[in-house]
Amino acid sequence: MVPQHQDQAPGLNVYAARRVRLQQMLFEGARAPDAALITQIANVSYLTGFTGSSAWLVLLPDRAHLITSGIYATQIGMEVPDIPTTVYSPGEESGAILAGLLQSWGVRTLGIESSNSLQFVKGLRKHLRKARIAPMLLKGVVEKMRLVKDAYELAQIRAAVAIADAAFEHVQRMLQPGVAEWDIAMEIDFYIRRQGAYPAFETLVVSGERSALPHGKPTERKLERGDFVTLDFGARYQGYCSDLTRTVVVGYASQEHRRLYHAVLDALERSLGAIRPGKTGRAIDKVARRTLEKYGLADYFRHSLGHSLGINVHDGVGLAPREKTKLQPGMVLTVEPGVYLPGFGGVRIEEDVLVTETGCEVLSRSPRTLMVTGY
Ligand code: GLY
Ligand code: MN
Ligand code: MN
Repeated sequence: MVPQHQDQAPGLNVYAARRVRLQQMLFEGARAPDAALITQIANVSYLTGFTGSSAWLVLLPDRAHLITSGIYATQIGMEVPDIPTTVYSPGEESGAILAGLLQSWGVRTLGIESSNSLQFVKGLRKHLRKARIAPMLLKGVVEKMRLVKDAYELAQIRAAVAIADAAFEHVQRMLQPGVAEWDIAMEIDFYIRRQGAYPAFETLVVSGERSALPHGKPTERKLERGDFVTLDFGARYQGYCSDLTRTVVVGYASQEHRRLYHAVLDALERSLGAIRPGKTGRAIDKVARRTLEKYGLADYFRHSLGHSLGINVHDGVGLAPREKTKLQPGMVLTVEPGVYLPGFGGVRIEEDVLVTETGCEVLSRSPRTLMVTGY
């Protein structure tokens, strides 16, 4: 059964404290902007507690302000009663409203998130120019804060992982010849929804030769004896994600199945053993690649080892060949080595881990030794 987490949503003071920390980072130093505009919804949600899909947060050293459309007027008042909000109507331009507010506060320079699209920046610049406000780029400041999780965030992630583990256990009975990939994926999604969560991303179920597609979508293909089946799915619970992958063999495991599976398992376990604070993401990625090299399989591992997990499934820096960020206690990451042999099939095993003071805690509990299913 899925453990029920009854933790209350964090008080408004938790979001206010996050904003204060961000304000201290944003507005110190001679080159700091006068104001910052946060538009990435995961960041807005992290800093305010708003759960809708569109709002802008404007920060000044001594002020926070929200701008949103009429759709969220009531909701934002309920969820974020402590931040003054300007609601625009259909036909009004949010950029013009923003520029007017900034002008009234005497803002001359505005930091905007570098993750915005060029089209968004161009549209905004038109309004800023009229108000004589110069744009600057903010590079991943909130994203960096989000890497280290607090106790409330961790409780939600643990619950999201428990739901994914339970979904895997639930669906095992379907992993037998004659069952379609599509039906397995639907059952996983339905199970996750029934736990009060959402699928964190489109559930992947790929079987037989199709298991060599790292991000293949489920089809009507029916499982056959001797197939690898890879299931990759996660739950979004109270706004936080899990991301779990298991590969099983249907009916009968050949020598080749076992060889591939054990190589990936070895890469996973050595990577888990290497995680600790101070190590870089690329050092851990290298452990997996070196391990697969020993098996002659490094060329078949063609994606990064893992990513940060949180409000988004891909929540920021992770374990990748060029990643120089050092691991810190409180980060939550996936570790997901895989090998994919075109024409044969593939194996990926993905765990969710919390970086601790001395190493890591594996949050996911699903068995990870080779499972042969069906009867
Ligand atoms: N499900 C996407 C990933 O594992 O990164
Ligand atoms: Mn995954
Ligand atoms: Mn993943």
